[in-house]
Amino acid sequence: MEKVMRQFFLFLSNNQLLKSLAMKYGFKFGASRFVAGPDLAHAAENIRTLNNRGMAVTLDHLGEYVTEESEAEERTLETIKTIKVIDKLNLDSQVSLKMTSMGLDISEKLVLHNMRRILEAGEKHQVLVTIDMEDYARCEQTLTIFETLKREYDLLGTVLQSYLYRTVSDVERLDPYNPNIRFVKGAYKESEEVAYPNKTDVDENLKKVIAMHLDHGHFTAIGSHDDAIIEFTKQYTDEHNIPREQFEFQMLYGMRAELREELVKEGYNVRVYVPYGRDWFGYNMRRLAERPANVAFVLKGLVKK
Ligand code: FDA
Repeated sequence: MEKVMRQFFLFLSNNQLLKSLAMKYGFKFGASRFVAGPDLAHAAENIRTLNNRGMAVTLDHLGEYVTEESEAEERTLETIKTIKVIDKLNLDSQVSLKMTSMGLDISEKLVLHNMRRILEAGEKHQVLVTIDMEDYARCEQTLTIFETLKREYDLLGTVLQSYLYRTVSDVERLDPYNPNIRFVKGAYKESEEVAYPNKTDVDENLKKVIAMHLDHGHFTAIGSHDDAIIEFTKQYTDEHNIPREQFEFQMLYGMRAELREELVKEGYNVRVYVPYGRDWFGYNMRRLAERPANVAFVLKGLVKK
């Protein structure tokens, strides 16, 4: 049943009609459970609260699969604005983005142009930019662009997904760049040809790539709410004398607040991924696909409104 629901919500996450209806009819339908607010002002308030509780943030202006150049321009300018606001308000925050929001599906020239403008702002305001990893079809291009940009800008990170067979070799491939990488299980609908179909394999591969990257001496972000992965990381870093400055736990806004607080109390670095904006539909459907219990949260949110 869980598998069927996962497929169902992943199918919805890609539905352009539902996505545009959701944007048009406002910030409702339980979006606030996983999304910090419709605009930067709301998001900044949330960041301040998290910072005061000892947690850093990565801020994501929601958006993906943009097909119009004007839209990509808008998203680029919003991300630059976000970087400036982080600096101006002295917030402990980085930014995350999806390159399909900056024009990846329109042309490589455009996305490189937009990314360079964002990364210039990142360097100027000392804000790290992480390129989220999207679906498999865009993985190779995302990594190639990451490599190009990483030769030009230091404050740049990306994400690798442990459900993909290719990820172990991608960890080796990116090693020369001393990259800041967030490791996650992966949130998209992928075929068995490219991704492990069984959760146990995805979990084991996540442990494997986290350990590899830590052993290479690079900064490692563990993007997971899974107790087993968190325990594994604690134990591995302890046994291998890996300093706490070399890694951090990252969790999504709206998920496992108590666990986050516990980790902070234990002296671990914790960063919360805070999405904001009106283009929340696909992001929220992927959260529902991950955990059927999230459906209940969203329904509760609906009733409250
Ligand atoms: P999973 O969903 O497999 O859950 C494992 C176990 O954790 C559950 O069985 C339960 O025990 C526990 N658990 C999970 N949620 C819980 C809750 N709310 N309450 C209590 N227990 C809970 N994906 C992607 O493809 N590209 C990307 O760029 C990113 N970026 C990203 C950033 C960050 C900061 C995070 C945390 C995640 C992503 N993801 C992502 C999403 C990621 O790929 C994945 O889909 C989700 O994190 C879900 O996987 P988990 O590792 O959290 O555990």
